[in-house]
Amino acid sequence: MTSQYQLIQLRPLRIAVLANVKGHGNPKFNSETPADVMADFDHIETIDAIRAAIETDGHSTIFLPADQDLPYTLRDAKPDLCFNIAEGMGGDAREAHVPALLEMLRIPYTGSRVMANAISLDKTLTKRVWRDRRLPVAPFQEFIVGDEQLRSDMHFPLFVKPAKEGTGMGVDSKAIVKNLAELNERVQYLLHFYKQPALVEKYLTGREFTVGLIGRWDSMKYSRHPEWYEKNKLGYHHFPVLELVSDSSVTPGLYSQAAKSIAVGEEGAPDYVCPAPLDETTVAKINNLVTRAHMAIKSIDYSRTDIRLDDHDEPCLIEINTLPGLTPGFSDLCLEAAAEGISYQDLILDILYLGASRWGLLTGRDVTLPKDRLRKKNGRPAGTNAFD
Ligand SMILES: Nc1ncnc2c1ncn2[C@@H]1O[C@H](COP(=O)(O)OP(=O)(O)O)[C@@H](O)[C@H]1O
Ligand SMILES: [Mg+2]
Repeated sequence: MTSQYQLIQLRPLRIAVLANVKGHGNPKFNSETPADVMADFDHIETIDAIRAAIETDGHSTIFLPADQDLPYTLRDAKPDLCFNIAEGMGGDAREAHVPALLEMLRIPYTGSRVMANAISLDKTLTKRVWRDRRLPVAPFQEFIVGDEQLRSDMHFPLFVKPAKEGTGMGVDSKAIVKNLAELNERVQYLLHFYKQPALVEKYLTGREFTVGLIGRWDSMKYSRHPEWYEKNKLGYHHFPVLELVSDSSVTPGLYSQAAKSIAVGEEGAPDYVCPAPLDETTVAKINNLVTRAHMAIKSIDYSRTDIRLDDHDEPCLIEINTLPGLTPGFSDLCLEAAAEGISYQDLILDILYLGASRWGLLTGRDVTLPKDRLRKKNGRPAGTNAFD
């Protein structure tokens, strides 16, 4: 904490960490269930790490599995606020289930709300929103039945992935298709096993980056580290750009489910280069894109956006994660924070306090916020306040 800022006022809170844990309350398996079905669920160690970080600032924590019992365990536990990292257990817009439940029960929670979590899980919908805002995305076409005619502007090689998954699920070396036969085979495979549309995109051949951001227009009022946010007129802090160098990974050229599941530094993992070797102008361009990508789908408080360069070295948005992984020493966002000397504890507590502040759980410090042209005097963007 820099001394020029007052401390924020906060009473000890009772925090429930909500998550889906590998091996708990799992979807029903059958012979056709893809092997990576629970890849985006968390390990219990991640929940323990989040709880430990929260407890360092005087709060008490419990873990509530985000399963069908959650409505009842929440009623009994009566938390002041939920730290939500639940990916959801299937069905439509699974990452939006817990926020929807919490809104209904009027229980405060961290991070993005229902719509942003629903849109971001659906990569096609996300790209449609971005394209509408003139943000750069690779040409794409969604296959719903499988025998759609490939549009004439879609040139091979193409990239095919499930439209509504995360953590590289359904992404392996067969995702890159070079002709109609390979395309058809891959689309059929995804429709059959993943039971959702296949998103077909131009294959982006360039370098791959991912960038996390944290903050909000009034983050300086509530953060334990207001200095992170003071330079940005919209109140965001961008973590350093992380480059995924996959050349010598298990799946050269792509950040697949297999590549994502190998521990950092182990054989077959990509090289995680942070900060990425990029000139200042490119970093500014990427950060600007990431900000606009976050705002376009109305993400709140933190997110992580994936980017790849096209044949002309121009950055294209791939997808946004409104519930980015928070495993210390492993998840991309945590690696980025660590690369600039931000501790895991500080990262988690800022996510917590940004969330808590939206629900009136903490008193902000008196601080002059950076001026921005999007915000009217004393105005708060609609939809960011609790119960809006
Ligand atoms: N259009 C594309 N061109 C090239 N590679 C891609 C493309 N889309 C995705 N990828 C590769 O697949 C990986 C996973 O895709 P992504 O959309 O980020 O899904 P996930 O939610 O599983 O992370 C990316 O990190 C990237 O390596
Ligand atoms: Mg991704």
